Amino acid sequence: MTSPHKHQQKLNLPSDVAKWFDSEARAFFQQLKLEKNDTILDFGSRVGNYAIPAAMFVGPDGKVYALDVDAGALDELVRRARFYELKNIETILTTGEVTIPLGDNSVDFILFFDVLYSLCRRQGVQAYTELLKEFHRVLKPKGRLAIFFGHYRELNLTLEELLDMSKAFFRYNGVFTAKMLHWDSFAHEKVHHFTKE
Ligand SMILES: C[S@@+](CC[C@H](N)C(=O)[O-])C[C@H]1O[C@@H](n2cnc3c(N)ncnc32)[C@H](O)[C@@H]1O
Repeated sequence: MTSPHKHQQKLNLPSDVAKWFDSEARAFFQQLKLEKNDTILDFGSRVGNYAIPAAMFVGPDGKVYALDVDAGALDELVRRARFYELKNIETILTTGEVTIPLGDNSVDFILFFDVLYSLCRRQGVQAYTELLKEFHRVLKPKGRLAIFFGHYRELNLTLEELLDMSKAFFRYNGVFTAKMLHWDSFAHEKVHHFTKE
């Protein structure tokens, strides 16, 4: 039997999360074409499964805003970020509003992974359109948006409808299948990517 991973021991991370932080996330961010020094917004970051390795990837001159409605999840994110001595993550606790407290044209890349369902279940599908408008406002020209739509069928939405809504604001660059974390386990999921023209 292999010994538990060193990060699992100290942070009590699920084993896939520990592997993801240590190596696998880098390949994912390379696939996304995230760049060193980028400013990232991880909208609906939960405990930082993406925000933390993104902060490692963009480096000390980059920045990650981790935004969520869940104070406990953001506390855990901060605990993990401290362990990795990451000083380039800023958490943003909201009450679920789609208004993003960041300036116009201030972000290079937005991650929107598996948040659609909880957003629209509470606030209706219109909230997604309002959020796209905000994403467009905060992204820099040529800034990019990556989306894993998650459980959209449970909202009685089709992928085509979601893409049409998104294309009203962004150029659609296509979709790829990536090994990524879904909750705390590895899964192969579809990532749709967009650019602000
Ligand atoms: C399924 S989790 C996905 C977490 C993370 N993006 C990932 O893929 O590991 C969804 C997260 O979105 C957050 N969320 C839901 N609605 C939100 C809203 N209106 N504003 C900000 N965060 C929201 C939830 O609190 C939760 O942490």
